[in-house]
Amino acid sequence: MKKSLEEHAARFDDEATEYDDSSSEEYRACAGLVIEHARRGSDDVVLDLGTGTGAIALALAPEAKRVVGRDISEGMMTKAEEKAAEEGLENVEFGYGTFREPEYDETVDVVTSNFAMHHLSDEAKREAISVIADLGPETFVLGDVMFFDEPDPEVPFYSPDVDDPATVGFLADAFTDVGFSLTAVERVHDQVGVLVAERTPKSVAETPGQIEETATDGSE
Ligand SMILES: C[S@@+](CC[C@H](N)C(=O)[O-])C[C@H]1O[C@@H](n2cnc3c(N)ncnc32)[C@H](O)[C@@H]1O
Repeated sequence: MKKSLEEHAARFDDEATEYDDSSSEEYRACAGLVIEHARRGSDDVVLDLGTGTGAIALALAPEAKRVVGRDISEGMMTKAEEKAAEEGLENVEFGYGTFREPEYDETVDVVTSNFAMHHLSDEAKREAISVIADLGPETFVLGDVMFFDEPDPEVPFYSPDVDDPATVGFLADAFTDVGFSLTAVERVHDQVGVLVAERTPKSVAETPGQIEETATDGSE
């Protein structure tokens, strides 16, 4: 992580008022794909990490049972709460939480994150993906700055002083290492994409002379 949590939070507190007015075409495409992949059913509980001003959380709330947004910037979440009130959404809540300590231990069906995880170092991303897997969602939809090719530091999605994006290959490995399968890879730009990771439905454990199925909840 190139900046501390406090530095990132202060930076986004300062940006919160104008944040919604300054989105790029690629950001909008990425957010749209995250929403499309995460919109699954009215019984779903969704956890949106790095929720910011609630772009993903608020779009999913009308069709979900409950949406929980977590972020480190109080300024960004204040904006999200104002928007939720304006839209009359009562099934969405926001509170402090980080990727590695989301401050959430209830049931979750879908985890989403858009344009936020690239602030973490690769090692921290790997830890965060492991923490998210332990929460037990069926689906994790990650939209973010990520490298499909050799990165060009001149293009607008990559600010080496604050951003630390991973390669798509690194993220794919981090997902599969904790039991997810990648079911969709959407390339928005050579530095922006959406990955959909689903819980591997059944893992088949082979012992000599015996094949047994392991239930999705990890019980045997
Ligand atoms: C570029 S904004 C994206 C906000 C929103 N997801 C969207 O799509 O508009 C990145 C957000 O990630 C948050 N963030 C940065 N590092 C974080 C961390 N370690 N844990 C949780 N949130 C973090 C920032 O405070 C900021 O609100």
